[in-house]
Amino acid sequence: MEPQTIPIATSTEFEAPVLEVIQKRRSLRAFAEKPVEAEKIKSLFEAARWAPSSVNEQPWRYLYATRNQPERWNRIFETLNEGNKVWVKHAPLLIVSFAKKDFSRNSRPNASAIYDLGAANAFLSLQATALGLTVHQMGGFDKEKARAVLGIPGTFEMGVIMAIGYPGNPHELPDPLKQRELAPRIRNVQAEFVRNDSF
Ligand SMILES: Cc1cc2nc3c(=O)[nH]c(=O)nc-3n(C[C@H](O)[C@H](O)[C@H](O)COP(=O)(O)O)c2cc1C
Repeated sequence: MEPQTIPIATSTEFEAPVLEVIQKRRSLRAFAEKPVEAEKIKSLFEAARWAPSSVNEQPWRYLYATRNQPERWNRIFETLNEGNKVWVKHAPLLIVSFAKKDFSRNSRPNASAIYDLGAANAFLSLQATALGLTVHQMGGFDKEKARAVLGIPGTFEMGVIMAIGYPGNPHELPDPLKQRELAPRIRNVQAEFVRNDSF
C-alpha cells in the first residue's frame, strides 16, 4: 500500500501582527548596483553581536567581502553552487558565517554553536531589512572548498554564506528565478507546528 501523505495547510497571510521587519524580510535574488555602505555593514554585525547564545559564548564568526574587493569577493563566490552563482554574481556584499565548535572557557564541545550562529544570522537579517537591504542565506556551496580557500580551521563549523544588497529589478533575472522572485511568500499555518496540549 502507498504511504499516505497528509496535505500540509499553508497560507500567504499573516495570522497575527508581527514586527514590520519580519513582514518585509525576503530572500531576494535581484540586487541593485548600489554598494552597501561601510556603516551599514558595521550595523549588520552589531545586530549579530547582540544575539543570545548559550552561556554567552557568542560562537559566531564572519568573513566578508564587498564587490570592490574583487579578489576576496571572488574567493567566496567561487565556492557557490552553479545555481546560486547565476544570481549572486550581482551581489555587492558576501558574508561567510561559521561557528566555533568548542567553548572558549573549557574547550568542551558546544552543542549550541550552530544554533547560536543561526540566531545571530536572523538578527543580522532583520537589521538588514530595517536598513532597506535584502539578505539571502545559502547552504548551496562547497563547504570544504570554502574552508580551504578561506583558511577556516576544523575547530569551526561552516554555517551559511549570505548574499546581501539593495533590492534590484526582478525583471532582470532569468525566467524561473523571476517567477520565484515575484511569487508571494508562503508558510505553513500555525496549526501545523504549534501545540498547546501534547505532541
Ligand atoms: C540554511 C539555509 C540555506 C539556504 N540555502 C539556499 C541556497 O543555497 N540557495 C537559495 O537560493 N536559497 C537558499 N536559502 C533561502 C531559502 O530558500 C528561503 O529562505 C526560503 O525559501 C524562504 O523564503 P524567504 O526567506 O524569502 O521568506 C536558504 C535558507 C537557509 C535558512
